[in-house]
Amino acid sequence: MPIPTIKFNNGNYIPELGLGLWKIKNEEEFKNTVNTALNSGYRHFDTAQVYDNEKLLGEVLKKSDIKREDLFITTKIWLKNFGFNHVAKSFDKSLENLQTDYADLLLLHFPVTGLRRKAWQALENIQAEGKALNIGVSNYMIHHLEDMKKYAKITPQINQVEMHVFLQQPDLVRYCQDNGIVVEAYSPIAHGKEMDDPVIKKIAIKHNKTYAQIMIRWCIEKGFVVIPKSSTPSRVIQNIDVFDFELDKDDLVEIKKLDKNLRTCWSPVHIP
Ligand SMILES: NC(=O)c1ccc[n+]([C@@H]2O[C@H](COP(=O)([O-])OP(=O)(O)OC[C@H]3O[C@@H](n4cnc5c(N)ncnc54)[C@H](OP(=O)(O)O)[C@@H]3O)[C@@H](O)[C@H]2O)c1
Repeated sequence: MPIPTIKFNNGNYIPELGLGLWKIKNEEEFKNTVNTALNSGYRHFDTAQVYDNEKLLGEVLKKSDIKREDLFITTKIWLKNFGFNHVAKSFDKSLENLQTDYADLLLLHFPVTGLRRKAWQALENIQAEGKALNIGVSNYMIHHLEDMKKYAKITPQINQVEMHVFLQQPDLVRYCQDNGIVVEAYSPIAHGKEMDDPVIKKIAIKHNKTYAQIMIRWCIEKGFVVIPKSSTPSRVIQNIDVFDFELDKDDLVEIKKLDKNLRTCWSPVHIP
């Protein structure tokens, strides 16, 4: 079954679910993981300069028989490359690593104080050149997005943030929706750190699905793009098998109560 898509504010589309690739660096593990993903229907891959696996991704995708236009590749500019010229130069290297002429989505990885304005302008230029079809940000809170209104000519297509049933950030979600910015949920399984909640367990049994599948499905019910990571083949397959059921109203009400502001990754909250 093809993965449903979400429309960006520029009219382009993104597959609702993709494979997160953070921490998969071992060559054999990486190739197995991405090939398993391709065979089970994934077409959207989330990498970053700092993940040190753009080159591996480029190699595996090149060898696959999937056409480039059927793939969706995201990468992110790492913090040390935020200088205006560094953004463009480092992104050219990313494209070379990925063996492609363009990224489907290019993000600024973090709202670096003092540097993010120029870095965003560099992304706007890259998009105008056609080297990134869509551009966005990551780890931006409301105050970072408000700040962007002072300098951005283009509203970001997406904001990739930590988001899961234990970190629901309703204000940020509402802000993004009101401003035409798609929310992309990273660490949707809370990085595997909270796998014992009785409510999620109960809902999983009710739908005959796994704990992780309920967490991923919640993101889809909320209208987010979602990028679970696994390098365990059975879990890679399991994590995309979330389009044959829906959470009902009662499930959503119960899950809403699980929000406890749990951050499992870096926090951008206090970055001015
Ligand atoms: N922009 C940013 O700053 C940022 C930050 C963090 C993450 N991300 C992106 O988001 C992606 C996902 O986030 P994440 O890697 O932090 O965490 P995640 O996807 O929430 O969780 C990954 C962990 O959950 C385990 N897992 C996966 N599927 C499972 C299943 N079905 N059952 C039980 N356990 C399962 C994985 O183990 P195994 O691999 O051993 O199966 C791994 O330990 C990243 O890979 C990256 O692409 C972006």
